[in-house]
Amino acid sequence: MRAIVLMGFMGTGKSEVGRRLAQRLGRAFVDTDALIVERAGKSVPAIFAEDGEMRFRTLEAEAVAEATRRRGAVIAVGGGAVVDPANAGRLRAAGVMVHLTADPDTILARVGDAPDRPLLAGGDPREAVTRLLAEREAAYTAAADVTVDTSARTVDEVVDEIRRTVAGQGPGNRWK
Ligand code: S3P
Repeated sequence: MRAIVLMGFMGTGKSEVGRRLAQRLGRAFVDTDALIVERAGKSVPAIFAEDGEMRFRTLEAEAVAEATRRRGAVIAVGGGAVVDPANAGRLRAAGVMVHLTADPDTILARVGDAPDRPLLAGGDPREAVTRLLAEREAAYTAAADVTVDTSARTVDEVVDEIRRTVAGQGPGNRWK
């Protein structure tokens, strides 16, 4: 059974949607940020502050590799994971790639003042969201099999759309 990978920008609901989707489908749920925190023994902001983003990206690549070994899992990856082509290739080989999107206002409302997101903290979050979205758009689009907009929608609505889209590909498709 192939994995279902949720990827896309911060604040698009990957972890929450992934957890509920996995529950509904009776599959395991793996969150790469949670694996990183477990391995490092400290929070994502602490890794960025004490060890730097490069170290975080190394841990992230290891977490992606580990997550893809869990066959058939629902996998949520951090917003920067598929920017690395090696991560994107590994995830694509493991399962269907679901790109979750949201408009900038929704993202900003969801991340709040972003203490948990070092790439948005310490400056103007709107500027950072706009810049990073523009920088990453091509990587997200290239990695995606399907795209689901989450703006102004509940977790259950998004979960239902993913289930319809993934299940709607018919028997014998590459996602089963
Ligand atoms: C990041 C997104 C975060 C986390 C880290 C870096 C990014 O995950 O991995 O702060 O580069 O976009 P979420 O997308 O789950 O917030």
